[in-house]
Amino acid sequence: MNNKMNTILNLCKAGLLALSISIASTGFANEAGHPLDKAPDRLNDMSALQNGAKIFVNYCLNCHSAVSMRYNRLRDIGLTDEQIKQNLLFTGEKVGDLMKISMIEKESKEWFGKAPPDLSVEARSRGSDWIYTYLRTFYRDDSRPTGWNNLVYKNVGMPHILWELQGERTAKFEEAGGHGGGSEQHFVGFEQLTPGKMNQQEFDNNMGDLTAFLTWMSEPGQLQRKRIGVIVLLFLAVFTVFAWRLNAAYWKSIH
Ligand code: HEC
Repeated sequence: MNNKMNTILNLCKAGLLALSISIASTGFANEAGHPLDKAPDRLNDMSALQNGAKIFVNYCLNCHSAVSMRYNRLRDIGLTDEQIKQNLLFTGEKVGDLMKISMIEKESKEWFGKAPPDLSVEARSRGSDWIYTYLRTFYRDDSRPTGWNNLVYKNVGMPHILWELQGERTAKFEEAGGHGGGSEQHFVGFEQLTPGKMNQQEFDNNMGDLTAFLTWMSEPGQLQRKRIGVIVLLFLAVFTVFAWRLNAAYWKSIH
């Protein structure tokens, strides 16, 4: 009896532990301890997705690939083949091509210490909020080989590609007593060194679009799935009414 109770108790404990781990890993904090900003939900906003695609192709595809995407998939966010050709393709690429890059992995590893990962499903592994915050929290750090650092990805190998848009900033930190008695660095704010081509709001807005595109890309089926979901719910609603009327009619004739 006692043994059984113990086993049950242990099972409960294990369950709780698993639950708390999964809650912790989906939580808003991250390795560097910087809280994540909520990415705006623009998955059904075609012009936001199109703007995100444009930024992605112009600024990110130089280093990152997205090999599970073909350019012609961009039709799904409302672009015509002609628009894709004119705005997003560089010489020699075809509309049916995969979003590959010409950079050689070995070389990019030598340049950045780490090869830029494929971004096809990045939003699924990191989450949209992480990406949205990551893209907006680069700062100047002369101790880094690239000259840049990041608040959510400490000592990142990627330079701040969009610095011309956002302008250069440094981050200010404050010493604060840590948990283990040691001291911790607490982020207190950015200081703008040079102005960007965009103001903060415009930059955030564009990063929202880019994040939406990366999210859409990692799950291109989801727009379709949502649409099917709505149809199924409508069908069920109609069917329920129908079944209810039928049921009533059926019993009426019995009585
Ligand atoms: C000059 C090359 C270069 C360009 C251009 C570039 N990146 Fe990166 N990126 C990297 C490298 C290198 C890493 C790996 C950094 C590391 O792991 O330390 C990286 C990492 C990332 C990561 C984190 C991956 C992970 O989960 O570990 C994201 C997200 C990302 N890049 C998004 C972007 C986006 C969006 C753009 C376009 C605005 C972009 N990058 C443009 C080189 C680049």
